[in-house]
Amino acid sequence: MAIGRKVRASEAGIQKADELRIKRGWNRKSPAFALASDTSESTLGRFWGRKDLIRIENFINIYKALGTDDWEQYVDQSIDPSTEPTPEPLERIVDGVPKLGAFYGRDRELETLSQSILEHKVQVIGLLGMGGIGKTALAAKLVQRVQDQFDAVIWRSLRGTPPLSDFLIDLLETLSPDAVPASNRHRLIDELIGRLTQQRVLLVFDSWQSILGGESSGAYRPEYQDYSELLGQLWQQTHRSCVILTSREKQADFTIIGTAQPHKMVGLDVNAASQLLCSKGLICEQRHSNDLVNLYRGNPLALQLIASMIRDHFGGDISVFCVKALYLLMNYL
Ligand SMILES: Nc1ncnc2c1ncn2[C@@H]1O[C@H](COP(=O)(O)OP(=O)(O)OP(=O)(O)O)[C@@H](O)[C@H]1O
Ligand SMILES: [Mg+2]
Repeated sequence: MAIGRKVRASEAGIQKADELRIKRGWNRKSPAFALASDTSESTLGRFWGRKDLIRIENFINIYKALGTDDWEQYVDQSIDPSTEPTPEPLERIVDGVPKLGAFYGRDRELETLSQSILEHKVQVIGLLGMGGIGKTALAAKLVQRVQDQFDAVIWRSLRGTPPLSDFLIDLLETLSPDAVPASNRHRLIDELIGRLTQQRVLLVFDSWQSILGGESSGAYRPEYQDYSELLGQLWQQTHRSCVILTSREKQADFTIIGTAQPHKMVGLDVNAASQLLCSKGLICEQRHSNDLVNLYRGNPLALQLIASMIRDHFGGDISVFCVKALYLLMNYL
C-alpha cells in the first residue's frame, strides 16, 4: 500500500460495500460506521459519492469495518493515480483560533503533547501554569501542529464566563449550523459528545480558571458547577476528539484530577527566553540575559514587560539595567 495514495471505489465496490453495510444495519454515513472505520462522516460521504478520491488508509479501513480485507478488488482501476488531480479538500471548520506570534522553544513539550493527541488519542489535556507562563501560546502552537488531523478546530475562551448552556449551544451551532440544539443541559452534553464521536474535532477551552474560584480552593464558582459534568463526560465517554484546556494552576489542580491529563508548565529555557529578549530589540550579552531569565524564571510575559522597560529606560542594554537596577532591586529585596 502506498501511503498518501488516493483512490475511489469502483461501481462493483460500492455495491459490495452497500450489501455489507446493510447486513450490519448501518446507514451510509452513520456514526457507528464512522467510528468502526476510524474515518469521519465527510470521508464516508466522499467514499459513497465517488466524485472525490479518498486516502487509501481510509479506504482500507472502510472495507475492514465492513468485514472484508479484499479491498484491493474494489479499487476503481480506471483512475490513474499519477494523473488524477488531487481533489480540493473539503472546507474544514476552523473557528476562533487566535493568530500565533513569534514562538520560541518548548520543542520537547510540543513533541510530547502532539504524541499524546495524535498517537495516544488522549481526550482531554490540561495545560496548567501561572499567569503569563505561556499556556495560551503553547495551545496555539499545538493547534498549528496537529490541526490537519482534525475535521474541525474550535477555540473558545472562558474569560466571558458563559453559562454552560450558552457555551454548549455555541459549540454545537458552530459544528453543525443547520441542526437545532436541545434545550436541556444533559441533552446538550450528549449532543456534543455525539458530534465529537462522528467527527474528529479539536477543541480548545482557554482560561478555564475563569469559572473556578469557589469557596474551597480550586472548586468551580457555584454558578459554573455544571461545567464539571461537561469535563467529566469529555474525559470518561469514548469519542474521537480532543479538548485542550488551559488554566492557571492553583485553581485548576483540584478540578483537573480525574478529568484531564495535566501538563504543568514552567518558564522558557534560557535559550528560548534569550531569543525572546533579543527579539524585543535588547542588546543581549549572554551572561546578563541569563541573569534576567533566571530572575524571572523564564516567564515570557514578565520578560516581555521587563524588556520594554529596559528598552525605554536603559537604552535597551540589559547589562546597564543589571548593573543599575537589578543591583538596587536585589538589595531592596
Ligand atoms: N514560547 C513563547 N515564545 C514567545 N513568546 C511567548 C511564548 N510563550 C508565551 N509567549 C508570550 O508571552 C505572553 C504571555 O503568554 P500567554 O498569554 O500564552 O500566557 P498564559 O499562560 O496564557 O497567561 P494567562 O494565565 O494570563 O492566560 C504572550 O504575549 C505570549 O505571546
Ligand atoms: Mg492564557
